[in-house]
Order: sequence, then structure tokens, then C-alpha cells
Amino acid sequence: MAHWDLLLSGARIATMQRGAVDYGTIEDGAIAVADGSIAWVGRSADIPDVSASETRTLSGQWITPALIDCHTHLVFGGDRSAEFEQRLQGVSYEEIARAGGGILSTVTATRNSSPDELFESASKRLRMLAADGVATVEIKSGYGLDIENEIKMLEVARRLGNAYDLTVCTTLLAAHAIPPEFKEDSDAYVSLVCEELIPAVAENRLADSVDAYCEKFAFNPEQISRVFETATSHGLRVKLHADQLSDGGGAELAASFNALSADHLEYTSADGVAAMREAGTSAVLLPGAFLTLGETQHPPITALRENDVPIAIATDCNPGTSPLCSVREAMALACRLFGLTPEECLAGTTREAALALGLDGDRGTLEAGKRADIAIWNVGHPRELSYWLGIRPLASLLIAGRDVNLI
Ligand code: NIG
Ligand code: FE
Repeated sequence: MAHWDLLLSGARIATMQRGAVDYGTIEDGAIAVADGSIAWVGRSADIPDVSASETRTLSGQWITPALIDCHTHLVFGGDRSAEFEQRLQGVSYEEIARAGGGILSTVTATRNSSPDELFESASKRLRMLAADGVATVEIKSGYGLDIENEIKMLEVARRLGNAYDLTVCTTLLAAHAIPPEFKEDSDAYVSLVCEELIPAVAENRLADSVDAYCEKFAFNPEQISRVFETATSHGLRVKLHADQLSDGGGAELAASFNALSADHLEYTSADGVAAMREAGTSAVLLPGAFLTLGETQHPPITALRENDVPIAIATDCNPGTSPLCSVREAMALACRLFGLTPEECLAGTTREAALALGLDGDRGTLEAGKRADIAIWNVGHPRELSYWLGIRPLASLLIAGRDVNLI
């Protein structure tokens, strides 16, 4: 005999199913949850005759898939507010990075932080994301830049996943910046990453994927190819910080390794977009970094749309270029800065963000069989999720069918 743990009815539901129009809306909808998964979705008038341990009748609130933040650097020491002021006085991100500031100043602060300190500061940010409807977060390393501290960051990220109901996906981003110890020999650092770090991380299952930063003052395509070949040989999927400040062929490079995603993409060419389409590589757009850096070059939105490249949106939460702790505000920025529609933004933080993490079989839409990661909102229409700035419209968040209160 079928039995449900929870039945939500009297809601308006944006299923965000692929191929559905108008948010996949079901007016006067209902969702049933059993064993942490969605057991049934449909119109309240069609609810099958199944008993439920608990029934909640909503008063027309909107239900969407819980949000997914598929690109963050949530674990870090210190902050970079002083650098923010410097940049407002006209010093560029690249100038600061080349002078040993930028990412490297966060590396020093992160190396000097204990695991507990990193856990505590990242916990606050994780709770802020959840307070705005997030149930799944990707967290990158990349501020350790040596074996011990990259592993420390990944262990903190794993610990966050164990301590909270949210799902945490971890990404090794050892190829984020050239560590000061290897300033004159970045190839030797890449060798260390390939020969020691990736095998250790893979063996201990500390990372779900491997990322790198392809930029003139970071790592070149040859070095990143070595990192990606090693990652792939250890069964890890890859993704790339690509073409953020210049067109370094990052999108093509990511596509050539069948990357899950290529992220940023402000300077990506039409050829880069075509390569992503062929490889099935998702685009992850990061409007918080675009805004904070005062960037004026837009990602190739028209080409991405014309090529049906899936577009995800994320916070890129990090202390340097995107001190942003709300996926919903990332949606609001993507509308205003990139001209995406509110529906594209909601798809970008649910269905397409799940795809960018390789989790699309499991979450990102409201369909029977998927995890019951469900956000309930006090809004009159889902477009309001991209419209309001500075308010918190979340009414409640269910993760695997259970209420979470992280606010
Ligand atoms: O996604 N582009 C490189 N990485 C980060 C920035 C990290 C930092 O500045 O600390 C990004 O924007
Ligand atoms: Fe990033």
C-alpha cells in the first residue's frame, strides 16, 4: 500500500520541467513526498487516494524546486574589503593580483585559519544561502594552494555537508593562482597538483570535480590540460573559470574535456560557444563578479541562447570579486545586467544548475522520483523571485522532504 509522508496542496507550482512552458506552472497544485523524494505532483483535483502522515494546505503560495548554487568559493579566511576600496579608487583586479594581492591575500588568510575558524565563517554564509531558498551548494578549494591547505579546505567543505541538511558538492580548484612558493616555476606547482594532490584527493573522495582558472596571470591552457587529464584519469569531472577577463580559449578548452561547465564567459567567442554546444558543456554565469569588477563586456547571451547551451546562474560567493550570499539576488542581477528573463533565471538556479553539477537526474525540477528539495515562497508570481531586491520572500524550505530552519 502506497503511503505518503507529506502532502502539500493548495499551492501554485512552478515545476521548471525541461521543455515545459511558463515555468511548468500547475495552478491549484499539490505535491506528495515519500521517503525524501517527490512521490506525486499534479493538480489538487487529481490527487490519488493515498494516505498521508501529514497534510498541509497552503494559501496559494508558490512552490519551486529549492535553489542550487553551482559555483561558490564559500570557504575562505579574512575578507578583501580593503581591496574593494582600492579598486574603487581605480586600481584594477589584475594590477592587484600581479602585485601579490587579490587571491593571494586570501590564500595567506586561509592558510592562517584553523579548520574550525573556516567552518564557522563558512557556516554563516551557508545559512544565509539557505535563508534565501538554497538546498544544494558547490564549494571550491583554491585558497590553500599547497597540499595541506587545499585538503584542509575540502575537508571543511565536506564537514559543512555533514553538519547541515544542505547538499555540499566539493571542487578541487588547486589551479586557481600561482602560489608564492612557485612564483618562478608554475609548471612545478602543476606537477605537484597532478602527481600528489589530485591522487590524494581522489583516493579520499574529498572532491566531486576539478576546476581551474584559465587566465594570463593564472594558468595557461597547456597547464590546465595536464590538470584535467589527471583529473579525468582519476574519474573526476572537470569545469573551468573561462574567459573572465580575456578570451583565452577557455570555453574551447573546457569543451575539449567534456567539462560539466565553463564559468564566467564574458570574453568567450562564437567558436567557444559552438564548442560548448558540441560537448554538452553548460554555461555558468556569475553576475556578482561582473558587477563587482565593474565589467562592461557581457557574456555572449544571444549566442548561448541560439545554440541552446544550458545557462546556469550562481553567486560565485568569494571575498574578492563577488561577496554575494544570495542566489536570488544573483538572479535579480542576471536580469538587470545580462538581460536574462526571470524564467531563465529561475531555470538557471534550479534545473540548469543541477545539470551543471551533474545532478540533473536527482534534483532541479519538481517531478516524481526527484529529491523533495522544495522552496515555498510568499510571492504572487515566480517572476518576483528575480524582481525584488533586499527582501527575503522564502516561506519555508524542505530538503529531502524535511523542514529545515537555518535562518
Ligand atoms: O570566480 N576568477 C577567479 N576566481 C574567483 C575570484 C576569486 C578571488 O578573487 O578571490 C572568481 O571570480
Ligand atoms: Fe569563481
